[in-house]
Amino acid sequence: MLQIIKTKDGSVSLLNSELNETYHSIHGARQESMHVFIKEGLKFFSDQNKKNPVRILEIGFGTGLNALLTAIYGAEHRIGIEYSTLEAFPINESLWQQLNFAQSSEEAKIFFKLHHEPWEQWTEIVPGFMLRKINTTLQLASFDHNYFDLVYFDAFAPNKQPEMWTLPMLQKTIESLTPNGVFVTYCAKGQLKRDLASFGTTVQTLQGPPGKREMIRAIKH
Ligand SMILES: C[S@@+](CC[C@H](N)C(=O)[O-])C[C@H]1O[C@@H](n2cnc3c(N)ncnc32)[C@H](O)[C@@H]1O
Repeated sequence: MLQIIKTKDGSVSLLNSELNETYHSIHGARQESMHVFIKEGLKFFSDQNKKNPVRILEIGFGTGLNALLTAIYGAEHRIGIEYSTLEAFPINESLWQQLNFAQSSEEAKIFFKLHHEPWEQWTEIVPGFMLRKINTTLQLASFDHNYFDLVYFDAFAPNKQPEMWTLPMLQKTIESLTPNGVFVTYCAKGQLKRDLASFGTTVQTLQGPPGKREMIRAIKH
């Protein structure tokens, strides 16, 4: 059962009542997404690497909020983006139509297209932003090695969905990154840091978004 909730910055999120887990921080969905994935992920990567397009892999498309903010950032900074996103349980239209993330009519158009475009194929959402939504699980997915520049690892928390955070799942995700590729997640667990370091990545503990102390970034060499 999915239920719409309001978070502290005024933006909405979803609550999965079986797992008792929200899709975003209750302290603010939009500000969490901006901080963890855009500022510490996309901005960090593209400030350091003048790469165009940037190839992004998201684990967990969910509400499409990360995809929306990425499309906006890419358009504002003239960064081409190829955005591949995995989702095991896509939400239905009656639900995503009720999610009011957009802060302008332009954003609303982008958000509509992100959800409305078909799955399993590349589609252009706005000039320079290509989307490929893949309806599968992380467990079943396979990725080309050295392909993605940036991974948004946005699975449900390890205590709710431990099968997403196992060494084999992390290993195939890290292997999909190019050298200098960046992995970001809102999770800050010590075990995750040790696991990421075991693949030879440089692991950084960064300040988290409002309401959360820390987050993790790992850089591949
Ligand atoms: C924290 S939410 C993602 C939030 C999302 N990034 C957003 O911007 O709204 C985690 C997502 O992972 C999805 N998921 C659950 N099990 C999965 C699996 N085995 N493989 C891929 N995705 C999965 C859930 O359905 C949910 O949409």
